[in-house]
Amino acid sequence: MDKLVITGGRPLVGRVKVSGAKNATLPLMCATLLSPGRHRLHNVPDLRDVRTMARLLATLGAKVEQKGDELSVDSAPSRGMEAPYELVKTMRASVLCLGPLVARHGRARVSLPGGCAIGARPIDQHLKGLEALGCKLDISGGYVEATAKRLKGADISLDLVTVTGTENLMMAASLAKGASVLRNAAREPEVVDLANALNAAGARIEGAGTATITIHGVDGLAALDHRVMPDRIEAGTYMVAAAITRGELTIADAPLEHLTAVVGKLKEAGVRFQPTPKGVIVSSRRAPKPVTIITGPYPGFPTDMQAQLMAFMCLSTGSSVIQETIFENRFMHVAELRRLGADVEITGSTALVKGARKLSGAPVMATDLRASACLVLAALAAHGETHISRVYHLDRGYERIDQKLTAAGAQVRREKE
Ligand code: EPU
Repeated sequence: MDKLVITGGRPLVGRVKVSGAKNATLPLMCATLLSPGRHRLHNVPDLRDVRTMARLLATLGAKVEQKGDELSVDSAPSRGMEAPYELVKTMRASVLCLGPLVARHGRARVSLPGGCAIGARPIDQHLKGLEALGCKLDISGGYVEATAKRLKGADISLDLVTVTGTENLMMAASLAKGASVLRNAAREPEVVDLANALNAAGARIEGAGTATITIHGVDGLAALDHRVMPDRIEAGTYMVAAAITRGELTIADAPLEHLTAVVGKLKEAGVRFQPTPKGVIVSSRRAPKPVTIITGPYPGFPTDMQAQLMAFMCLSTGSSVIQETIFENRFMHVAELRRLGADVEITGSTALVKGARKLSGAPVMATDLRASACLVLAALAAHGETHISRVYHLDRGYERIDQKLTAAGAQVRREKE
């Protein structure tokens, strides 16, 4: 297992390029299961989760090749219909193969993901929607088996906003007979990216990006050929990296249009943004002002940026309030931040972050992807050395983060534990 050793206190200066979005790539990879042929995805990040998804597609009979940031998937005659526990337990997004498999082949057997570090994360809404589309569901032995002759369009009201739930159902409904309406749908940009890719392949999806998505089912789709959108969470993380080190980073390919809530909070804290043709220049010269953050579904403040903003607020000039409304256990980074000297009190789903503290390096442990990003940011600002173990969490979602940070002047090295 690798760990990162970061010596903090150096302002980051230079240019960082944002990679393709993990959370757009994973559903797009599952969408290749909807039709035979050679699918091409461009701007695909080299991440552990992408490699795990490639393994899953391979167990389902697809031929997957990644060359640089180009991924090709040949999903011609699919063999398997089963997503095994071994893969699903390492990556919950595997559940995204359920909708496409049952829509195209009439059968899918997918391990139930179970809980994870940040919350229980059930998939009841995915299942409710599939049932409405005419699937017969059988849950036994830790697996859900979905069968259907041909899915039928349905009017589905989701009880809560779910990103992968919306994506799963949108993919399934694309091949259903007749029209479907998804109400209370997730409005995340990754849902829109998926809809755009599917529509270019012949799907008829309207309203992606709004809370009501209408999908007119078609008999078949062509192979996908799509450029993955840039990763808004990676971009946001580098914005905080620039600000927390009081540096100046030019962030190329940052999708500012998808980061309104994050940029708004960072500006409120005193961070400066200057869009240029080469990327947005993000800089900060002084300690941040405290802010109040409440996470919410898009276009609200993303839960995937909550931990990173908390690291930043540890150094603010006052007390900040951070409320997590999406996941019930997404403060795992707090105990580790405290080891670096942070003063954070948790009451239920709310954290009170008392700023104006100096952070100092210590050994810490990453618990999930965004908690790891939070610890990297805190370490970049801390005095002395921070050893972050379990870096594999970070490698799931940040392409070559150590190299990107080093190129901007950070002192980061990767060591074997
Ligand atoms: N939920 C249910 N039932 C369901 C589905 C969701 O109760 O059937 C609950 C969840 O437990 C959670 C809330 O609804 O409390 C929202 O979960 P959602 O389904 O939207 O999350 P997700 O689709 O599993 C995606 C991202 C996450 C991101 C969330 C929220 C992917 C592959 N994952 O997860 O990304 O945090 O949306 O924006 O798109 C990450 O990248 O670090 C990450 C965890």
